[in-house]
Amino acid sequence: MRIGVLTGGGDCPGLNAVIRAVVRKGTGLGHEFVGFKDGWRGPIEGSTRSLTTDDVEDVLARGGTILGSSRTNPYKVDGAVDRIRENLAAAAIDALIAIGGEDTLGVAKRLTDDGIGVVGVPKTIDNDLGATDYTFGFDTAVAIATEAIDRLRTTAESHHRALVVEVMGRHAGWIALHSGLAGGADGILIPEVPFDPGTVCGWVQSRFAEGRSALIVVAEGAMPEDGAEVLSTGEVDAFGHVRLGGVGTWLAGEIERVTERETRAVVLGHVQRGGTPTSYDRVLSTRFGLEAIAAAHDGDFGVMVALRGTDIVRVPLSEATAELKTVPPERYREAEVFFG
Ligand code: F6P
Repeated sequence: MRIGVLTGGGDCPGLNAVIRAVVRKGTGLGHEFVGFKDGWRGPIEGSTRSLTTDDVEDVLARGGTILGSSRTNPYKVDGAVDRIRENLAAAAIDALIAIGGEDTLGVAKRLTDDGIGVVGVPKTIDNDLGATDYTFGFDTAVAIATEAIDRLRTTAESHHRALVVEVMGRHAGWIALHSGLAGGADGILIPEVPFDPGTVCGWVQSRFAEGRSALIVVAEGAMPEDGAEVLSTGEVDAFGHVRLGGVGTWLAGEIERVTERETRAVVLGHVQRGGTPTSYDRVLSTRFGLEAIAAAHDGDFGVMVALRGTDIVRVPLSEATAELKTVPPERYREAEVFFG
């Protein structure tokens, strides 16, 4: 078979490891590969690059994606699905492997329904995809955020300050929860649980009362009980997502106003998505790639590879995109022991 590979949505560490595993195993099985550039824009525009074992030689540890990415939604562009069909036929493509999050895989599901053979691979630093226990990229993002929290704690202690660390997490607070727990945060705020700014100020005050600094981790999608998400711009992408950012700075202002203690905000932003994947993410993404090419080889389309326990399995794409995996209340309650 000639198999097209693409990466869509926000990049994350481990994408190149998936591509490498697909190409290395698939070439051994007698398949040829074509890389489509920049997510779904590649098949729409017929924009490709070569994807041989030579092309994937040094990419295992490289962050980002050698194929490029975008948030293009073919179902929002007139005639795009027909153009995908024509371009796949012109490049003699028999199947596609699409590596992405809920948006990219949602498109993969619709294209499968429209008769195009697609195998999905889940990725996102947010770890919010249903049907898989973990996505690769998450472990790396948590490691980066935890290291930042450790570093910020020492400067917060030295200056007897409060520090608010804003991490990514649009609808799900997994990065905040895990990095906050790993970094010993004095408060963790997630999108799933609206917060009371007065309670957060109480945590900060009790830390200062003990002669300590205070460090609060907040997910970008967290919101006050009587407020809304804080947006960095009014822009909405092709999948209808607003651009978040700024809740950390807003909260730091509130803490400083109420507690009258110096407070700083740090937004980790895209630092969490960049750079080399952890060994955990390299192994998970490699295993996902191996199973994705096995599914394509079997002609088993309309599925996504997933982690269940320690096993890599195939699940229907419809299941994969049915609902977001958010932080369960009991997981948040575990962390509350350490607040304040
Ligand atoms: O990929 C998921 C994510 O990292 C979210 O956590 C974040 O809200 C969003 O992408 C940021 O997107 P962009 O790179 O387009 O600013």
